[in-house]
Amino acid sequence: IGKNIHYEETVESTQKIAHRLASENVPEGTVVIAEEQISGRGRMNRPWHSPKYTGIWMSLILRPNVPLTKAPQLTLLTAVAIVQAIEEVTGLNPEIKWPNDILLNGKKITGILTEMQAEADQIHSIIIGMGLNVNQTKDDFPPELQNIASSLLIEKGDALSRASIIRSIFTHFEKLYLLFLEKGFYPIKLLWEGYAISIGKMLKARTLTGVIEGKALGITDEGVLKIEDASGVIHHVYSADIEL
Ligand code: BTN
Repeated sequence: IGKNIHYEETVESTQKIAHRLASENVPEGTVVIAEEQISGRGRMNRPWHSPKYTGIWMSLILRPNVPLTKAPQLTLLTAVAIVQAIEEVTGLNPEIKWPNDILLNGKKITGILTEMQAEADQIHSIIIGMGLNVNQTKDDFPPELQNIASSLLIEKGDALSRASIIRSIFTHFEKLYLLFLEKGFYPIKLLWEGYAISIGKMLKARTLTGVIEGKALGITDEGVLKIEDASGVIHHVYSADIEL
């Protein structure tokens, strides 16, 4: 992971470049990193604020030989790798909000966006976009984000080396990815659950088709969230925004 790095100063989105490189068959583990994105993309077609020199904006290309249904597991694996890297470099203890937001003191530090290129039901490439707020001050965030987003600088009180965090993410990711390829998702799921805040709590999941309210029971072996509503019905949630 990260032996082949495409570094750019300013891009529209590192996802876009990674998609192009993936169709050109660059080696697995290739990473696109940019200092700034002018149209960074988040989940559910939202913009992702990516100012210059302060964050880590990168996209990783993977080609696991697994069926399409396993892609969400790699998103959860990525969240574990980033939490471990943040713990290692800063000593802080982030938490994961399903599926893949990383929070410190309840505010979002990191977002992950997984996209795929597939043929039939086989994955050609998975592109995992990671956005980490590292050295932004409060004023660097637009007003509408100031209460919900934060950075490692704000939470730790010190500026941090983005290069050390990137290296640490690669190291942790590679270990977890090899474990995943050898033993499957189960060991990753256990690690993920150890960092998850939503499990066992009451929450609201806003999906494309409606709102499900209830208690989060955990995730399935595929990484799907299970919620039990007031009447005891268990819902399987593949994609949603969660409110605790
Ligand atoms: C989310 O909505 O939480 C996911 C945010 C993902 C942002 C990253 S930054 C690098 C990569 N390039 C993009 O345009 N988006 C992802």
